[in-house]
Amino acid sequence: MLVETLAQDSVTEFAIDVRLGLMKKGQKEIPSKYLYDEVGSALFEVITVLPEYGLFRADERLLRENAETMAAMLPRERVVLAELGSGSGRKTSWMLGALATQRPTVYHPIEISQKALDQCCRELGQLHNVDIRPVRQPYLQGLLSVAAARRPDEQLLVLFLGSTIGNFSWCAGERFLKQVRQALTAGDALLLSADLEKPLLQLLPAYDDPLGVTASFNLNVLARMNRELDADFDLSAFRHLARYDAAERRIEMHLVSVRAQSVAIPRARCSVSFAEGETIWTESSHKYRPGEVIEIGRRAGFRPLRQWLDSEWTFAQTLFVAE
Ligand code: AVJ
Repeated sequence: MLVETLAQDSVTEFAIDVRLGLMKKGQKEIPSKYLYDEVGSALFEVITVLPEYGLFRADERLLRENAETMAAMLPRERVVLAELGSGSGRKTSWMLGALATQRPTVYHPIEISQKALDQCCRELGQLHNVDIRPVRQPYLQGLLSVAAARRPDEQLLVLFLGSTIGNFSWCAGERFLKQVRQALTAGDALLLSADLEKPLLQLLPAYDDPLGVTASFNLNVLARMNRELDADFDLSAFRHLARYDAAERRIEMHLVSVRAQSVAIPRARCSVSFAEGETIWTESSHKYRPGEVIEIGRRAGFRPLRQWLDSEWTFAQTLFVAE
């Protein structure tokens, strides 16, 4: 019963956001979180192994090479690791490995997808000295639950990897980090990953790969509306577009209507018309400068301890401590 209610609520939330985003004047949009249903998450896993998508490997490389050093910089005896978005768990294993050789470690993956939590528990369940306690909640709510349950002698280390911070606008990213800081106590730590600006020749193919996986990942949000909201999107009448806004320093993903058309979305109680060339904006990925990552952390109430940069794919991990 509870499970059904949850599923129902999430369909309703999707319907409301679709209605708001597609009926509004001006640029149509759908929040990027809706890219990640079961199909979308599986496609994203494929994206992470594409040669053009260097972000994921840079993030993993930095952890593999520096997790020991990072773990040694955390002073407390007992460390509780909380990760915002557990992903596949592949990257986290490096940090857990480093922490758990030095002390018993509790790991809270915070994630709304039960599938992702299950996969993460399977992947990381064998690690010695690691106690996995999944939290099925949105990021901030989950972090507050973890913080409420922590003991005074425990230090929290929050992982926010993958450059997910880049999905927020510059302002919203800072606001989000402030909220993260508010859930923490002075002395807690944050490891933040951010993709950095780089030449367009390298950046664009990461979001528009020749195999078309990213295109499928993007188009899936239309297929999802067909599945969950009984919509009648003709997927062949939309194409994937990745473009770089140099002023905002962000990649934008759009779905372009290749002709004038009208689409019914019964469960969102609307019908939407598109002009030829009109787009739905589905995601932004902001590209930081190293100093901006430090600055945004500072403004959110953290002191930077150290920043690591990848040499193959410009990408930064920054370790902060809450002041
Ligand atoms: C997982 C949100 C960081 O923005 O690079 C990959 C998602 N979108 N390809 C990113 C994504 C298109 C990814 N994040």
